Amino acid sequence: MPMTMAERRNGLPQEVRKTLEANPGFADLSHLACIECETTYPSSEVIYKCTSTTFEKQNGNDSRGICGDILDVRYEFRETDPEFLKELWLARRMSNAPQDRSGVWRFRETIPFIDDPNSVVTLFEGNTPLFDAPVSAKYIGLPRLRLKHQGFNPTGSFKDPGMTAAVSIANSLSMEAVACASTGNTSASMAAYAKRAGFLPIVFIPEGQIAIGKLSQALDYGALTMQIKGDFDEAMGMVMRIAPKLGIYVVNSINPYRIEGQKTMVYELMEQLSWEVPDRIVVPGGNLGHASSIGKALHEMVELGFIDKMPRITVIQAEGADPLYETITSDDPNQLITVHAKTLATAVKIGNPISWKKAKNYVNETDGWVEKVSEQEIADAKAIVGREGIGCEPASALTVAGIKKLVEFGTDSPIDKDEDVVVILTGNVLKDPDYTVNYHMDRLYEDYVTSLNVLEKAGKIGSTFANAPIQVEADEAAIARIIEERLANARK
Ligand code: F0G
Repeated sequence: MPMTMAERRNGLPQEVRKTLEANPGFADLSHLACIECETTYPSSEVIYKCTSTTFEKQNGNDSRGICGDILDVRYEFRETDPEFLKELWLARRMSNAPQDRSGVWRFRETIPFIDDPNSVVTLFEGNTPLFDAPVSAKYIGLPRLRLKHQGFNPTGSFKDPGMTAAVSIANSLSMEAVACASTGNTSASMAAYAKRAGFLPIVFIPEGQIAIGKLSQALDYGALTMQIKGDFDEAMGMVMRIAPKLGIYVVNSINPYRIEGQKTMVYELMEQLSWEVPDRIVVPGGNLGHASSIGKALHEMVELGFIDKMPRITVIQAEGADPLYETITSDDPNQLITVHAKTLATAVKIGNPISWKKAKNYVNETDGWVEKVSEQEIADAKAIVGREGIGCEPASALTVAGIKKLVEFGTDSPIDKDEDVVVILTGNVLKDPDYTVNYHMDRLYEDYVTSLNVLEKAGKIGSTFANAPIQVEADEAAIARIIEERLANARK
């Protein structure tokens, strides 16, 4: 007979039981700090970039400027007992309290910035599965690969854990509206959380450049949706100019609370791995908030005594949207090299990433790596993840393509065939159905160009693992023959 929930709870150590039942709030001393000059700001201030004055010597003269770098949330963590917290977090899985059912707020001691727990806006995000991926492992050439699928979040992407944090802050600050620029997933997530909280979501998207599933979400959740005639980088610039003027809260990953929420994914992952640290965590890189949040989580986990080594953060970018790769492999990696982004993985079609410096610092701190992959490599890797019975959107498949390339061709730092690698899949397979169907029907092109009113296609992607639908008359015998043939092939 399995134990009842009450019996399992009664078996917990008394301290854990007491803390669980008290379900305490989680405000702690938090403040904001510039990642470059360390200037601090109160956590209640609505600010995205450091405003401190800098002095530089130029041609022998003092020149004044504004620092302008992005901010981090910092804490005076209270005495932390990792073993106690691990038990408490596990115990919360038996609780029905909304904050305990959220895979973000279950780990609230690691993100103690909310004064009033009632301002939390949750859709029960997180709690995403970690899959063994034998098909992908074989494809890559590793004995084992695990996939942590953030596409199982409520709006289908890894954005939700960050969004619950940012929208909860907006709620506690009594904001009337929130805004973001997006390649699709951030807007879908923001629209959902903002509507749950009862305020207006305002979305800026590059016209014609976001996947249909994501657009449909923003519309359905009721976002004011502005399709900008320009790319993501232009939409981002527009939000940063307009929102502060109109008193609207920006929830792109320039908002450091987004990073805090995303951090909890790493705690959840480590719990799923029984706190055995993998050798490498692989993520796709776009605006680079995701890699930054993983780095910050790992840094704090070591500081607080949860783990004693860090997995190597490995960021994969699309060849046509690879500013971090270009920067980190250049002579001056302290200067961002922006690019005019082009990729069918529209989620990461970003040439001027906001969080590049944070991501670069964490890649260096963890002795990680940055790699780039081609459109063909992305498309094939996506089909392989599909065959796993799992699937993902194109931007997520960058990771599997990237790690395959690294295993085949290596890096300056050795990549061992026995490495324990965890790949983070960022978006659900249903986000971009056009891409998937075009690939399987052998009609995926890098370019669709209209000239003289004629649609021309160029840059055909090969459909290496195509699984096209079969057109057939409604004829029972003919259909039976096709099925039998397929079964016979499968038995070979
Ligand atoms: N994967 C998916 C599915 C994404 O939607 C994004 C980013 C990334 C990877 C890259 O993550 O920006 O933190 O480096 N999407 C953003 C958006 C930009 O607007 O939805 P990142």
